[in-house]
Amino acid sequence: MLIAVPDVLTADELTEIRQIIDGAEWIDGNVTSGHQAALAKNNEQLPEDGDSAKRAGRLILDALGRSPLFFASALPLKIFPPLFNRYGEGQEFDTHVDNAVRLKRGSEFRMRSDLSITVFLEAPENYDGGELLVEDQYGVQRVKLPAGHAVVYPSSSLHRVTPITRGRRVASFFWIQSMVRDTEARRLLFDLDRAVQRLTGDLGGKDRSVIELTGVYHNLLRRWADS
Ligand code: NI
Repeated sequence: MLIAVPDVLTADELTEIRQIIDGAEWIDGNVTSGHQAALAKNNEQLPEDGDSAKRAGRLILDALGRSPLFFASALPLKIFPPLFNRYGEGQEFDTHVDNAVRLKRGSEFRMRSDLSITVFLEAPENYDGGELLVEDQYGVQRVKLPAGHAVVYPSSSLHRVTPITRGRRVASFFWIQSMVRDTEARRLLFDLDRAVQRLTGDLGGKDRSVIELTGVYHNLLRRWADS
């Protein structure tokens, strides 16, 4: 399941993030890759422990924290500190899967990657190519979103970033360990949540069926969630 999360960042946040990261020093993107991904990857990345990545990453996490759609679709338990990458002309990231377990260097932090997220930080009209292609059970999904929007997709999927043929693609990317490990269970909860939200709008929060269905949602979450 791919979920596009529109308008994660405000225009001001986007401007601030770009000011922080554009002035920073970038390094070869292969520092975060596993062996197989390293063969496929050709891009630049912000040093993950650098002050710029930390400051910009905090803005992104604060923004995601305001998004009910992000929460309902990802049900996050742990989030890797946001990383940043950019691709110039001719650069790409060929087909790969993301590592199942992520460690944060120099810390105790350790997580399972259930979901991958890309937050687009460059307007799509400013570059050609640079599409995120994700293979899921419905085929290949092509994703290229406006700056400030995000896409969440299973870390288990084969995916790639197509070569840039003009301009530069700038994005933040990181991983989420969900409270609900199973993708299908997470999807059911998401579908139920959306339907309950709609019903609440139509019938009001005091409607008996709305209350019972809200209970079903929370009781399923209780049954399936790790915490
Ligand atoms: Ni990846």
